[in-house]
Amino acid sequence: MALKKREVQTQVKHIILSEYLGAWAGIILNGKARAAHSQASRGRPFRARLVYVDGFSYKGRYEGDTTDVMLNGAPSLPTWGSPILGIQALDKAQQFALQRHGFHTDIATILVEDDDDDFLDLQESLQLAGFEQRVLLNPSVIAPPDGKISLTQGNFLTYAEPILGYIAQPYTNALVLLDPYGPKGLPYTTVSRIVAHQDADVMINLPYQDLHKKLGYLLNEGERPGDRALLANYDAMFGTGEWRAIAARVKAEVPPEEQTERFEEELANFYLERLRAADPTLVVKNIRLQFPDKDRTMFYLYLTTHDPTGALALNKILYEAKLSEYELKWNRQQAKWVHESHQAGLLTLFDAGMDALQPSSQDTRTVDIPKLADGIRLLFSGQQRNPKLRDIYAALANSDVFVEEIDRALRHLKKNKLADFDDQRASSVISFRT
Ligand SMILES: C[S@@+](CC[C@H](N)C(=O)[O-])C[C@H]1O[C@@H](n2cnc3c(N)ncnc32)[C@H](O)[C@@H]1O
Repeated sequence: MALKKREVQTQVKHIILSEYLGAWAGIILNGKARAAHSQASRGRPFRARLVYVDGFSYKGRYEGDTTDVMLNGAPSLPTWGSPILGIQALDKAQQFALQRHGFHTDIATILVEDDDDDFLDLQESLQLAGFEQRVLLNPSVIAPPDGKISLTQGNFLTYAEPILGYIAQPYTNALVLLDPYGPKGLPYTTVSRIVAHQDADVMINLPYQDLHKKLGYLLNEGERPGDRALLANYDAMFGTGEWRAIAARVKAEVPPEEQTERFEEELANFYLERLRAADPTLVVKNIRLQFPDKDRTMFYLYLTTHDPTGALALNKILYEAKLSEYELKWNRQQAKWVHESHQAGLLTLFDAGMDALQPSSQDTRTVDIPKLADGIRLLFSGQQRNPKLRDIYAALANSDVFVEEIDRALRHLKKNKLADFDDQRASSVISFRT
């Protein structure tokens, strides 16, 4: 089957996925290093295992990036999709554990894809990437041993429980990507079980563009019989019909020109709350990805973890990715314009409209540390005056601050005698003073 071009949003999603996988594996492996050494010094075995689960794998590769293909035609090297990026990240993590910490970590990948053609292409992609020998095709039990890739054709939702059983084994940490085309692949009954798993980090792609369209069916045209099933998919995704009441309230109370933005804000937040409701100790972040040439949201990525340090490490990644999203947007605009100019038989490189879209490479980050410090103090001025550092990280996980900035803000408070603590470990108690 013909391959598709990789759109800018998918490219950004892939950057976030690869970077997050690297940060996630690094944090886990660094955390295990001490135990690995202590076991080794007593002559005892040590085990760690990292698992990547891609529930909706797709073909494993694209024709090329839209920008490049428009300018130069299809590239000679494959542009990999999420399954290959996941395997590559695990391979790197395994090398890192050995080289940096001197211990072996098991790695395993679980891929599921429903569609016949996509599944065949995925097999071919794994072959092209040099992973053929590692593939276990349609295994009767999904429990890949070290280094192996379990590849199953079928509906992910029917395999979710056995996969959860596998990642619930001791010494195992998993990163699960849930990236179906629409809400049907994301029923709350299944998603809530996966995100609640203590040792699973989950990345979910919420198709907001589609939800926005379905809101129109719900609120403007009235619910026709044909739309009923489509809307019911969202009831299943939210795990409740309450989102309909939120939408109706926004329509009744908010001026029409502000409604689009408010629907999005409220529904994106509501989904965040629903994920949190699956487990009170869960840290959840969301990231908005927009169309390249319009200020309209295409999808949201939700990231769930039980490690607030990990969630904050992500802020740095996202900060970088946001900059590159901007660059990618710009590149695409440029490619489109050059392509059109070529077709029209003219090529003027310095089009006035182009400059306005150009990203500023001078874009540097400035954070007002005293202001951040005040904000943190305010947040913990009520009942919880003596939180652990971990609680502060968790409370700020869905902001965009970095771990280092929180640490600096706390040192600022200590210097001004507004907070006290001995050291800055995740378990350290921070006492706020009034
Ligand atoms: C958006 S694509 C995934 C893209 C991929 N994550 C990437 O970034 O390269 C969604 C894929 O999920 C598959 N799919 C949809 N519903 C599924 C289900 N219930 N179980 C397994 N695969 C499914 C579709 O056939 C499609 O290939």
